[in-house]
Amino acid sequence: MIEIIKSTFAPARLLAAAFLFVLAACSTVPEAAQRNSASIAPILTSEQARDDQSFARPTEARVAHLALDLGLDFSAQTVSGTATLDILAQPDAREIVLDSNGLRIASIRDMAGNALPYRMGESVEGKGAPLTVQLPVDRLPRDPALSADELAPTHRIVVAYTSAPNAEALQWLSPEQTAGGAYPFLYSQGQAINNRTWIPTQDSPGIRQTWEARVTAPEDLNVVMSGVAVGDPEPAANGRRAFRFAMENNVPPYLIAIAAGNIEFRALGPRSGVWAEPETIAAAAQEVGDTEALIDAGEALFGEYRWGRYDMIVLPPAFPYGGMENPVMTFLTPTFIAGDRSNNGLIAHELAHSWSGNLTTYASWRDGWLNEGVTSYIESRITEEVYGEERAEQEYALSYASLVEGVEEAGADNPNTAMRSPDAIGPFDTQGVAIYDKGTAFLRTVERIVGRERFDAWLTSWFDAHAFQPITSEMFLADLRRNLVGNDAALEQRLMLDEWVYGTGIPANVIAPDPQAFAEVDAAAAAYVRTGALDAGAWSGWTAAEQMRFLRELPEELSDAQLATLDRTLGLSGAGNNEVLFLWLEAALRNEYDPAVPQAERFLARVGRNKFVSPLFAALNGTAWGRPIARRIYADTRDGYHAYTRSAVDRELEWNAEG
Ligand code: BES
Ligand code: ZN
Repeated sequence: MIEIIKSTFAPARLLAAAFLFVLAACSTVPEAAQRNSASIAPILTSEQARDDQSFARPTEARVAHLALDLGLDFSAQTVSGTATLDILAQPDAREIVLDSNGLRIASIRDMAGNALPYRMGESVEGKGAPLTVQLPVDRLPRDPALSADELAPTHRIVVAYTSAPNAEALQWLSPEQTAGGAYPFLYSQGQAINNRTWIPTQDSPGIRQTWEARVTAPEDLNVVMSGVAVGDPEPAANGRRAFRFAMENNVPPYLIAIAAGNIEFRALGPRSGVWAEPETIAAAAQEVGDTEALIDAGEALFGEYRWGRYDMIVLPPAFPYGGMENPVMTFLTPTFIAGDRSNNGLIAHELAHSWSGNLTTYASWRDGWLNEGVTSYIESRITEEVYGEERAEQEYALSYASLVEGVEEAGADNPNTAMRSPDAIGPFDTQGVAIYDKGTAFLRTVERIVGRERFDAWLTSWFDAHAFQPITSEMFLADLRRNLVGNDAALEQRLMLDEWVYGTGIPANVIAPDPQAFAEVDAAAAAYVRTGALDAGAWSGWTAAEQMRFLRELPEELSDAQLATLDRTLGLSGAGNNEVLFLWLEAALRNEYDPAVPQAERFLARVGRNKFVSPLFAALNGTAWGRPIARRIYADTRDGYHAYTRSAVDRELEWNAEG
């Protein structure tokens, strides 16, 4: 049933909601528009619509359903075809504003094929340009079976377009950038505001849309998307194959994703499986072998998994993130594969977004913690269920140490350390630690104060009540106060809710990790600092988290002799876990350790994951010794990086077109 978003807004904003219109009742609706009519998302309130990263004006006219019909052109590095948009518009709306970044529009037509006037506005760096389209005079007929208060789209437009070859969302990999080396590869990364470079729609997280797609690709490639595959691929013109997908849940548009390459599927259990290149599939399937158990744990904790299947794709190493929670098809870096499932916190994390992020989504990029912080907390709870309390506590201790360090570096009164980005600073400028690590610490603190049972019940009810809806920090706090705190003034005081969400630094009531979590490792690190003693036997028995902790506890400054001994005794440059290997390379490079340069160079040429790449370039760039090395390596590797990693390293190295 249609439900106008539960109101937690000030009366003035309710007025805007009251402008919700009654739709003109007409006759029948074509099948595509009807398909998911029960879940057509309403016109947004002005608070939900507030997103200064989008040009859309969804209080006037909003996209409700998107149907893509696209061809992938690997030689031109473009996608092209049509996007058919079903639109819900206010009775007096004359136009709709879409987001576009670099799209080449061929035509925009109504259902009958008549051209509609449109204009592309001025482009803003990173944000793209508003694409304003005049709404057709003819309205979509209304399904007579709908009751008067049920929403149905009012207009349909068809945009014919081609993406630009340098579209930020799309990375077109050459065969050499894949494991097999024989076929090209394509993947997309929509979050945060990249999808407007390949899809002409309203690209704001509050504007949830259902979607479907038909995509053609060269016949030797498989295509996957963040929607359920519909039927088997079918032959299409010019020796190609056509793949169909559908997403019947309303999703924020950044969650529309595609990948294509020489990939194959391996089932893991009744509702999960993994895609990867043939060269990678065995190791990938082995690594993610706990997926069914992770899903079961998530459901037992926070309620039904509402997306049907949970599949994953392990991408080539150029992928700039660890993972991306694209619905029914999590995208993963291959660098998490360690052989022992020790980096599976990543899977728990992306899966956890099935509740926080994908089911309930921040209405704007200011509330990053509602996606990432809540997810990191759930990740930790799932990890505890599946891998035990000790591992969960260690992983929390690593996260907490990052938080403390990040706040120390920035200063406890730095606005970048607030969970909710203040309007004064850009929504992407909030520190990662404030969104991920402070978010986890916040929920853990509330959990401990109110008790796990009560907290879990509340969090589950929060997800239920706001399923498939945009959320804000204000809504989160209001719901928590109404349903968990109640009239308990003493509890309200102990929780320090506003200080956590809006304040800077780390509130005094924080529940820190158990100091015992790393007792042995911290003692070993202290002993190393005191006497230089290293215990290879103990090291090799440690968990990945323990090894990471040890490397993070090492002194900033290490001599060549110390680095050589560390490497020789602990086998650091042969580490099978990329997180451990990365910490070793970072320590070596920041200390001008020549013998590590060739390995760092190979690593940087192979891996595009920004979390590894940027800090390694920063470590090099921090010394007069390393600066020319950084520039020499980057000149070779830059072209192979995703636009996101490239822009981060460009900034770090103050790189410009000339190098
Ligand atoms: N959704 C994020 C990735 C993201 C965030 C992309 C913001 C673009 C903008 C994803 O779920 C994530 O957090 N990935 C982490 C995983 C880690 C915390 C386990 C990553 O990639 O490192
Ligand atoms: Zn995440």
